[in-house]
Amino acid sequence: MLAQKGAACMQQVKQLTSIKPPGAVAAIVRAGGPAVQASARIPDYLHETYWWAYVHPNAVRLFERQWLVNLILWGNFARLRDAALDALGERLEGSTLQVACVYGDFTPRLAARVPQDAALDVVDVLPVQLANLRRKLGDETRVGLMNRDAANLGVPAAAYDRAVLFFLLHEMPEDVRRRTLAEALRAVKPGGRIVIVDYHLPHAAHPLKPLMSWILRRFEPFAMDLWRRDVSHWMPGIPAGAIAKRTTFGGLYQQLVIEVPQA
Ligand SMILES: C[S@@+](CC[C@H](N)C(=O)[O-])C[C@H]1O[C@@H](n2cnc3c(N)ncnc32)[C@H](O)[C@@H]1O
Repeated sequence: MLAQKGAACMQQVKQLTSIKPPGAVAAIVRAGGPAVQASARIPDYLHETYWWAYVHPNAVRLFERQWLVNLILWGNFARLRDAALDALGERLEGSTLQVACVYGDFTPRLAARVPQDAALDVVDVLPVQLANLRRKLGDETRVGLMNRDAANLGVPAAAYDRAVLFFLLHEMPEDVRRRTLAEALRAVKPGGRIVIVDYHLPHAAHPLKPLMSWILRRFEPFAMDLWRRDVSHWMPGIPAGAIAKRTTFGGLYQQLVIEVPQA
């Protein structure tokens, strides 16, 4: 009965959130300014696979807890966050793009590195996630919020000095992941930097490997792609030397720093 009600409710949410002009490009809204207007079409995989984590308003209420996101990453959230921020830089002059919202304090910490005359834009395809981020940022006005699909950013080429993708790629079906990486490479200037943090195949004897394999297969079905292949597989044409990869926590997590090649 409860499951039926839940499914009916999600169907309604899906219908309401799917009625969008295809390819519409949203204006950038300042955090601390007016609410973000929904304009991007929500991809089916988010409704079908991740409604419980991101789409449903209760998901935000449940997951927007620093201790919980830290637990999900086996106590590694702060370490992974700080390593990603350090790879971007101590002081982020120019323009920075964060592709997809993250629960916890990732974006406030990122924004703290952006000087007054520089810019940070955050893209997410779910208005509920951007509204949540807006709440977390308070009256911070340097951050632009954009309701767009990572696979179709709708920004000019070479618009940003750097971009960051924090645990986004493992949630995407392969074709969306490929397009998202192509968009990040297009959006960042030649010579700029892209930082990616995500799951990775742990060492064979990792004590959490069987449990993580079960969790990912059960709840995050696209994630196993990142156990099977290098992220470079979805970025054809990027020279190996342009990608610096390091793994942590027995190989379960990876950080990539990509120097965008000169055209
Ligand atoms: C960055 S990922 C995962 C982050 C991490 N698991 C956490 O603790 O939040 C989650 C975000 O990606 C967003 N997202 C997923 N697919 C997207 C897409 N195609 N375009 C833009 N945002 C997307 C979701 O709406 C969600 O806000």
